Amino acid sequence: MSDSRRTILVTSALPYANGPIHIGHLVEYIQTDIWVRFQRLRGHQCYYVCADDAHGTPVMLRAEQEGITPEVLVARMREEHYADFRDFSISFDNYHTTHSEENRVLSEYIYERLRADGHIAVRTIRQAFDPVKNLFLPDRFIRGECPRCGARDQYGDSCEACGATYGPTDLKNPLSVLSGEAPVARESEHYFMKLHDFTDPLRQWLRWGEFKEPTPASSDSLPLLPMHPPVQPEIAHKLDEWFGTGLQDWDISRDAPYFGFQIPGAPGKYFYVWLDAPIGYMASFRNLCSRRSDLNFDAFWGRQSEAELYHFIGKDIAYFHTLFWPALLYASGFRAPTAVFCHGFLTVNGEKMSKSRGTFIKARTYLEHLEPEYLRYYFAAKLGAGIEDIDLKLDDFVARVNADLVGKVVNIASRCAGFISRNFDGHLAVQLPQPALFDEFVGVGEKIAECYERREFAKAAREIMALADRANQYIDHAKPWVRIKEPDRAAEVHGVCTQGLNLFRILILYLKPVVPLLARKVEAFLRVPPLSWDDLKGPLLSQRINPFEPLARRVEPSRVRALLASAASPADQPNSGFGTAPAKIQEAAVAEPLLPSITYEDFAKVDLRVARITAAEYVEGADKLLRLVLDVGGESRTVVAGIRSAYDPDALIGRLTVMVANLLPRKMRFGISEGMVLAAGPGGRDLWLLSTDEGAQPGMRVK
Ligand code: MSP
Ligand code: ZN
Repeated sequence: MSDSRRTILVTSALPYANGPIHIGHLVEYIQTDIWVRFQRLRGHQCYYVCADDAHGTPVMLRAEQEGITPEVLVARMREEHYADFRDFSISFDNYHTTHSEENRVLSEYIYERLRADGHIAVRTIRQAFDPVKNLFLPDRFIRGECPRCGARDQYGDSCEACGATYGPTDLKNPLSVLSGEAPVARESEHYFMKLHDFTDPLRQWLRWGEFKEPTPASSDSLPLLPMHPPVQPEIAHKLDEWFGTGLQDWDISRDAPYFGFQIPGAPGKYFYVWLDAPIGYMASFRNLCSRRSDLNFDAFWGRQSEAELYHFIGKDIAYFHTLFWPALLYASGFRAPTAVFCHGFLTVNGEKMSKSRGTFIKARTYLEHLEPEYLRYYFAAKLGAGIEDIDLKLDDFVARVNADLVGKVVNIASRCAGFISRNFDGHLAVQLPQPALFDEFVGVGEKIAECYERREFAKAAREIMALADRANQYIDHAKPWVRIKEPDRAAEVHGVCTQGLNLFRILILYLKPVVPLLARKVEAFLRVPPLSWDDLKGPLLSQRINPFEPLARRVEPSRVRALLASAASPADQPNSGFGTAPAKIQEAAVAEPLLPSITYEDFAKVDLRVARITAAEYVEGADKLLRLVLDVGGESRTVVAGIRSAYDPDALIGRLTVMVANLLPRKMRFGISEGMVLAAGPGGRDLWLLSTDEGAQPGMRVK
């Protein structure tokens, strides 16, 4: 690795403005941030920009549901996202939005270049159209029966029951999720980017990290291979497949109504969100340049740029970043990314994040219960350079953080610091008793740096923890707590503790990209300026340090349980950020958490009966409840039901409903409830008591 100062621009994918940041997202932002902080710690010039991805149909619809403009919605979401990132110490130099003037100008510019050079085709296509909402339906807004197995309520691209994949027009009895109506096929003109035109420059890029073959420095030296291949081997493999089948035209337009940028010279047409989203990387940087006179946009994005450019993304969006995006850059005269780094997906306890299991954990919910740096450390301890999924095992999380950060690393300081303040007036010794051990710790630095550079964070963490073990063994062996009792051995204890704290200082330096807040506390404790890689040059001696204060607390398993309980509670799921959506959309996109599956036998135990409401009254002191008296075929039951917001008691009397008749009586604050009535709806006035046909008789079994 060369020692010269590098100039680097880094991005993470731009999170969609239609939902909250969750811990799955955080894998990416934490991974990127660790890498960026590492580069800065090494003394390189490294900028990190991001933005909210503001455009698209889901944002438009959600704003409509909330009764606000998309502009207001995306401004609010950006604030929320930014606050989440800030509280996880994600060190953006700029956090912009794709709904910005910079992005409009750049998107139009890039499009005009494509058009002028003949890379845009216009064709009429047929698509599903919602005749009630009057808009073309994105695939995920259509549901219907699987053409293969007939399973109902499947998305337009694949069947969750049998795994078949197909197009939205293949669905049987398709329905629009928005209106519940059957979509009709309608034609409109679309604008396509002719991706095929860029096959050669794309191939060059994949080989060399540039759009052309690099010219050798001299005729007898071969071109240098890049430090990072432009894409990982797994992605290169995928790309071979895509090239093999030929690059298809890419549809970059959407019809009004749409929230996005209008296509110049094409009334009623908008850029598809994925066209202007990656351009948002440039726009965010350009916005940063407008505030920083020392930064020059062209020096980073021009074809001749000497700077390195890296995009961190999840593997689900590799296609966009390794084909469309470099093609757009090439077509409009900009530089190529140095590399695109893909990571895998987060699973929790081995499964996809799930609301019902309480493992769909929002960044904010996590922060309400646990320290951000614990998650940063845990992800670091799991992350490698590949695209495999990574699993958050909650037991393992507790054990790992407690054993490594608290038990190994911080423990070193707490074992040494007390002696320094009590016995040596807070001053470190003037020399180390074992300089060779210090040098050994310094010596591992390049290996650790190499791990960070290659995104092998788990390996870096292992190296660092092995050193922490060494430091603890050293203290175990030197036993300062024994020696301090012997009158003439104080100087030895002074040396041992100074040695221990110096080893600790190196470990914290190595960990600083992962746990910046802990590092800052340690800097204050040691009374040193911010640690940097240069601090490996020599030990910290003689100077006064502050009295030790606990630097990190153990994670209590009860806190993790509380986190899961919050994450599972309906209060924590404001429709995964969809606001107060009408029932239709809630059903499709953000349904109430499903409970774990039950067997048919379980279900058969539920005794559902037709019941007639014979009396209904308000419950004093409870603004949500009504007390109902039900006739279940000669037997009378009193049931307390939370339906007051939707029904007047008088309107209910005489109606037939369905109740769970064999629920054990429950003592509630307002009396005993002997069963449960069935109701559905998003709440408030929109809550419907299940009613049944007049032909039904109270007491009848419902099947
Ligand atoms: N808006 C697009 C990206 C545009 S970039 C020009 C998008 N947004 S996203 O909010 O869905 O995802 C943002 C990033 O988070 C993506 O890189 C995605 O892969 C990543 N992740 C989202 N869920 C994730 C997990 N469960 N696990 C790991 N990464 C995840 O895609
Ligand atoms: Zn199927």
